[in-house]
Amino acid sequence: MKLPLKAVTIASVIVAAPVLAESWTLVPENSHLAYGTIKKDTVGEVNSFTNLRGHVSPDGKAEIEIDLSSVETNIDIRNERMIEHVFRKAGAASLTAKFDMEELSGLEVGGTTTVDAESVLSLSGTKVAFDAEMFVARLSETSVMVSTNDMVFISTEDAGVNVGVDKLMELAGLSGITRTVPVTARLVFKTDDKKAEAAPASPVSVATVDGDIKAGKKVFRKCKACHQLKPDRHTVGPSLHGVIGATAGRADGFRYSAQLQESGIVWTAETLVAFLADPNGTIPGNKMQFPGLKNDEDISNVIAYLQLEAQG
Ligand code: HEC
Repeated sequence: MKLPLKAVTIASVIVAAPVLAESWTLVPENSHLAYGTIKKDTVGEVNSFTNLRGHVSPDGKAEIEIDLSSVETNIDIRNERMIEHVFRKAGAASLTAKFDMEELSGLEVGGTTTVDAESVLSLSGTKVAFDAEMFVARLSETSVMVSTNDMVFISTEDAGVNVGVDKLMELAGLSGITRTVPVTARLVFKTDDKKAEAAPASPVSVATVDGDIKAGKKVFRKCKACHQLKPDRHTVGPSLHGVIGATAGRADGFRYSAQLQESGIVWTAETLVAFLADPNGTIPGNKMQFPGLKNDEDISNVIAYLQLEAQG
């Protein structure tokens, strides 16, 4: 029985996005928008939206689209009821926000800051304005993570979904569902600006990927057959020292394939996610004889580990 929190979340997302004077596109795989509900005063649950889209324009206007039909309450019938009664089959909710780009530009790779974002959530014709404090981390030259600094609370009444919540209570035979919803968001944006991609590599913060470093160390055992982390220690594969933020094929003294060297890829959390999931599909003909990691968690964990241990 989760409700209007969704709308709130969307707004938070928008706020966070503008970091530099470039356009930024939301990376759905690395982004997460969730809200909490409490029923009968005691049972807390987390719901999320699995389908988000968004971008931030160079002047700091953020727009996030939340696919309301992608709500995940972990119970199918509940998803259906949410979509029908609370979201009234609206399709998408939109969140817009305006950022002060002056404050955000000049954030170095690895740098973090908090910004206030004035946001507006539109849900089935109802607009809810709210302020959200967002934590912004520059993950790499081409990526930025924005997350809610605290929870954002959205009132079901303001969001125009009280009638739908009443209906959910009736359908589920519940005595109560909270009428204010905490929302949290983690949004990762990347720039498609070619200039930014060509920028010189710089050390990247550990915070880039939301992974478990200890678990990542275990995953890295698979890589160790061919990769060392010490500088210039090349074995079957190149040393991965300083690889985060670097251009592919940059290590001195290792003979890369032309395919890898000419790919022009910069190793960020996003490009590593793609490459480690499918090395040969991402850079056809490269000579890393490794089928790829099948588990998404293994991928983000090993990247978190590399961010910590492979810093140049
Ligand atoms: C069987 C050996 C092998 C294994 C296992 C392996 N790699 Fe590689 N890797 C290579 C080789 C060889 C290259 C160079 C490819 C080329 O030049 O085309 C490479 C290239 C790379 C690059 C690009 C480096 C650069 O400087 O541009 C990254 C990043 C990378 N591997 C990460 C990993 C990670 C992370 C794992 C473990 C999940 C892993 N590799 C497992 C052999 C391996």
